[in-house]
Amino acid sequence: MAFSFFKKDKKEEPKTVKKEEHHAGPRYYDLRIKNIVQETRDAITIVFEQPAGQPIVYKSGQFLTLIAPVNGKEVRRAYSLCSSPFVDQDLAVTVKRVDLGLMSNWLPDNLRVGQTLRIMEPMGQFTTEFDAQRKRHLVMFAGGSGITPMMSIVKSTLTQEPESIVSLIYCNRDLESIIFRQELERWEERYEGRLHVVHVLDTAPMNWTGYSGLLNREMLVKLFERIPSWSADKTTYLMCGPEGMMRNVEALLHDHAIARDKIFKESFVQGVLDKQAEAPPAAGSEEAKTREVTIRYDNQEYKVTVAPQDTILQSALDQGIDLPYSCQSGLCTACRGKALSGKVKLDEEEGLSQSERAEGYVLTCVGHPMSDDVVIEIG
Ligand SMILES: Cc1cc2nc3c(=O)[nH]c(=O)nc-3n(C[C@H](O)[C@H](O)[C@H](O)COP(=O)(O)OP(=O)(O)OC[C@H]3O[C@@H](n4cnc5c(N)ncnc54)[C@H](O)[C@@H]3O)c2cc1C
Ligand code: FES
Repeated sequence: MAFSFFKKDKKEEPKTVKKEEHHAGPRYYDLRIKNIVQETRDAITIVFEQPAGQPIVYKSGQFLTLIAPVNGKEVRRAYSLCSSPFVDQDLAVTVKRVDLGLMSNWLPDNLRVGQTLRIMEPMGQFTTEFDAQRKRHLVMFAGGSGITPMMSIVKSTLTQEPESIVSLIYCNRDLESIIFRQELERWEERYEGRLHVVHVLDTAPMNWTGYSGLLNREMLVKLFERIPSWSADKTTYLMCGPEGMMRNVEALLHDHAIARDKIFKESFVQGVLDKQAEAPPAAGSEEAKTREVTIRYDNQEYKVTVAPQDTILQSALDQGIDLPYSCQSGLCTACRGKALSGKVKLDEEEGLSQSERAEGYVLTCVGHPMSDDVVIEIG
């Protein structure tokens, strides 16, 4: 769910109905790598230099799309910015290796300081506005690499909202896998009483005085005793981490009678969707029809033919239409558009909030047309 705290292979020329000559599309940059920091055994932070003259504007909680040639193919992945626009001069993302993962292994194995890497402009709804007059308590649950958007929001909150406080419950496998451990300690010291970090480890060393074990109901009660208790209307809960952890935390928060509209999450990984395991649509069914979808984007209108089992985004890309996208998993909302008419089925709805769905928003990367009159407006 979006946390707005308030909230190519070109086969043929795309069929377009031109409205204007101008076509900007998503903005891309070739950013120079200023530094690479080995954070833990399997996580690095990539620090990018801001482009000269026109710095990239972003919000805490947003992500960059990194684009790299992996095994001769262009691969894109989303990485949340761990830097804060209020604190850090440069842009930074932290990448944690995933077993057999394409990009998360290619980046640390191939990138060097001084090289440039192509990125797509910052995007994402897991963000908030900061206001010096605001007084709020952000309770964050992070797991592993899920610390990245939190790190940015922590820094921005502490520096921009003098009366707000942050409690961060950070779950990791073991002591060595804690990303930003020292940095968090420094922020805790500098903003004493306003940042409370509680570590939870799956496997703790002998002398560990913190928490260890599963984040279950008893653990949550104990953790809540460790963090300040503010009134419900001033407290917001954020989570980002492995799917299992987030499901668990969400259920526990609901048990604690925390209202749903106070809980926001950012997913890095697809949950239940397993495209390979999906049965092909039955012949003759609505899902088995090839349909034409109209896409309005950047003052252009495109007609995209979508075959059964293809997504709207993939069909558009195959037809040479440069639509915005990043994760291609229905999580990041970079491909979000509004269905002005027609019916669209989504394989994965995690990236959209209930109200976005009710307003007709769809994700083209996991969307399939279910009627012949689908018109989607992007941007
Ligand atoms: C909005 C958003 C922000 C993100 N921010 C970050 C970030 O700040 N830091 C970061 O390291 N990653 C982040 N990710 C995840 C990142 O985009 C990649 O998915 C991740 O690096 C794995 O890519 P890969 O190419 O190595 O793996 P792939 O080759 O795509 O996947 C290999 C296998 O690993 C599984 N897998 C993918 N990601 C994970 C994961 N995180 N944990 C466990 N299994 C996984 C896949 O399901 C697949 O089975 C973010 C994702 C999204 C959608
Ligand atoms: S590209 Fe990320 S949700 Fe579609």
